[in-house]
Amino acid sequence: MDRLLIEGGAPLNGEVRISGAKNCALPLMAATLIASGKHSFSNVPRLRDIMTMRSLLAHMGAVSEHGSTLEVDTSDIHTLTAPYELVKTMRASVLVLGPMLARYRWARVSLPGGCAIGARPINLHLKALEQMGVEIALEHGYVVGEARKLRGAQVRFDQVTVTGTENIMMAACLADGVTVLENAAREPEVVALADYLKLMGAQIEGAGTDEITITGVRELYPSSCEVIPDRIEAGTYLAAAAITGGSLRLKGLRQEHIQAVIDKLVDTGVSIESGCDFLDVRGNGRLCSVNIETQPYPGFPTDMQAQFMALMTIGDGVSVIKERIFENRFMHVLELERMGADIQLDGRTAIVRGVKKLSGAPVMATDLRASASLVIGALAAEGRSEITRIYHLDRGYEAIEKKLSAVGARIERVSGRGE
Ligand code: EPU
Repeated sequence: MDRLLIEGGAPLNGEVRISGAKNCALPLMAATLIASGKHSFSNVPRLRDIMTMRSLLAHMGAVSEHGSTLEVDTSDIHTLTAPYELVKTMRASVLVLGPMLARYRWARVSLPGGCAIGARPINLHLKALEQMGVEIALEHGYVVGEARKLRGAQVRFDQVTVTGTENIMMAACLADGVTVLENAAREPEVVALADYLKLMGAQIEGAGTDEITITGVRELYPSSCEVIPDRIEAGTYLAAAAITGGSLRLKGLRQEHIQAVIDKLVDTGVSIESGCDFLDVRGNGRLCSVNIETQPYPGFPTDMQAQFMALMTIGDGVSVIKERIFENRFMHVLELERMGADIQLDGRTAIVRGVKKLSGAPVMATDLRASASLVIGALAAEGRSEITRIYHLDRGYEAIEKKLSAVGARIERVSGRGE
């Protein structure tokens, strides 16, 4: 398995172009199942999760090609099952449930099961589908959904769920009547999906607010669109610049999508200046410790919690970090401690006492964002770190070692067997 070797201490300087967002591309790809024909997406990142979604669509009969754009042809869908092997490696596979039920009124999708960051059930997706007239059965580890027809419903999510909102929004596009989603997720990726569905002919209002109204139509048609920039990748590079005391220009991002992260970084003493299509970030010596609490968008994203914790390990003071979205998203803590961090865990709260510096160490990546936090820690640490199990990183960061080395990081990917 590939490893990353990082020699810490080099400030990052230069320009980084932000890639398209995986969490936008994945639901768009699932949405192709609703309308037979050729769909086309630009700015799709080259990532393992995108490959997994392509494999899933291929299993169902879709043909895809990823050149300068990603073309997906869903003219010949013949299998309506999302198998365990694919769903277990990528939970976002459950996003095919809504589209399949919308178009075929039958779907069989493996239950995702637990994952490193928490239990992550899909009960809210299923409850909403039942309200829309879908009969749900659990058979041999699979959810089997069937409906004579889908009908519009008043759905209130007990908890904000991103893929739940996306799944039900897609299912509702071809339902009879009006569906109202209350307490809906407001993430930019939900808005981007709604925009694409509208291009396909759907009638959707309110995406980006906590109430989305979908009026069912008879049919949708394939279209094309551009994937929005990856706000979490952008936030990760901002953190990398800040911790190394470097100076980076980020291009191709949407600043308004990461305002909560920018605000917290400014509180730590980092300088951030924006231009029309770029953001400049500059670290100014030791960071001040600040507290964070993760929340659904537009709050501070859970997908930036681990990276921010890496920053706080060398902050001046004590930082209290509360994880409100996932119950177990602290897998990076033990690894950061191996680099010399002082972190105390108490349920969903981490108390991080800043130390003067981290020291390079062999560490193991446990999930996607935890891996990013180890990279950030290693960039600032004294000496060499070796990060294993970086297949997690490859799920969500396009060409990370190339982008980092181009701005001065001493980072190298080593291919090899074993861990
Ligand atoms: N939840 C339930 N029941 C449900 C659905 C969710 O209890 O039916 C709970 C979850 O267990 C969690 C909370 O609700 O505690 C929020 O989960 P959500 O459903 O919003 O998460 P998700 O849709 O599975 C997406 C992103 C994640 C990101 C979260 C939160 C995609 C493909 N994934 O997951 O991204 O952390 O929203 O913002 O969009 C990542 O990119 O590293 C990543 C994990």
